[in-house]
Amino acid sequence: MRLAFEQVSYSYAGAASRKKKAGKKEKRQADWGNAPGEVWALRNVSLTVEPGEFLGVAGHTGSGKSTLIQHMNGLVHPTEGRVTADGADLVDKDVAVSVRQRVGLVFQYPENQLFANTVYDDVAYGPRNMKLPEDEVDRRVREALLLVGLDADEIGERSPFDLSGGQQRRVAFAGVLAMEPEVLVLDEPVAGLDPLSRADFLALIASFHASGMTVVMVSHSMEDLAALADRILVLSEGRVFALGTPAEVFADAAALKAVGLAAPAPQTFASALREAGFPLPRALYDEATLAADIAAALGCGDGAASAPDGGGGRG
Ligand SMILES: Nc1ncnc2c1ncn2[C@@H]1O[C@H](COP(=O)(O)OP(=O)(O)OP(=O)(O)O)[C@@H](O)[C@H]1O
Ligand SMILES: [Mg+2]
Repeated sequence: MRLAFEQVSYSYAGAASRKKKAGKKEKRQADWGNAPGEVWALRNVSLTVEPGEFLGVAGHTGSGKSTLIQHMNGLVHPTEGRVTADGADLVDKDVAVSVRQRVGLVFQYPENQLFANTVYDDVAYGPRNMKLPEDEVDRRVREALLLVGLDADEIGERSPFDLSGGQQRRVAFAGVLAMEPEVLVLDEPVAGLDPLSRADFLALIASFHASGMTVVMVSHSMEDLAALADRILVLSEGRVFALGTPAEVFADAAALKAVGLAAPAPQTFASALREAGFPLPRALYDEATLAADIAAALGCGDGAASAPDGGGGRG
């Protein structure tokens, strides 16, 4: 599925007053401190999420990341502009219903949205809502729990509220996976997890992408985005500040800094070394490739990470 944002702007104040249907304009201004420029959580955003890609979404607190991704399954609709799925406008109710089954949205701290009496029923909620036969629901619940490292027989009849925070996160994630979405949209999926659980979750997300799923992931970790994303979208004050490959987005450290972000440490260090005249040929560095290229340039590497263009100053 190809999701397209066409000049999308979104105002929460507008949404609230639209819902009330009463024209309380003076209240709307008061909520937003009388600064018309601050009304918009998203401003004129255009972009396409390509089928099969891994799109990372970065940006400072309040830049509009969560608002943006909630447009992706028709949970919220643009105040201006439109969002389409394979050309069909999500403002159409039938389109939104079908897209909601194909785009799985995992909220920030999704464990806060667990609600059922048992783990099993919580994970089964989505598939049952899709009116699937109960044996298919059962297959999906078991498979989804297994994917996140939980056993339905062991944990299915327990209350989700008796589980640890990490287990609750897994159950909430399984609830979305049980819908077998084509597009997986994740809002800071590893926030607040311990390092081991983080690594587990990120590996799982990477495996979904490897198997062909489209993934959109909001993250405050530039390291995680550099390692996983095909492209990174940087939002600033509701606008598209940058959109490109990690190498492209991290190339301009000063620009990133101006919107409160920093390139991953190895990338920043590589830029500094390069400016000092050290030969480093790659556009994007992580710890391992930086160490290997430095070792190679100093003539002590074993050539395992030889430079793609034959540079590196050996000999
Ligand atoms: N329910 C809401 N009502 C009114 N304004 C809101 C609401 N949710 C978000 N906003 C405002 O919209 C803007 C964008 O918020 P959003 O939550 O999308 O940012 P974010 O990038 O996800 O931030 P964070 O990194 O803190 O999660 C902010 O100015 C925020 O204060
Ligand atoms: Mg957010």
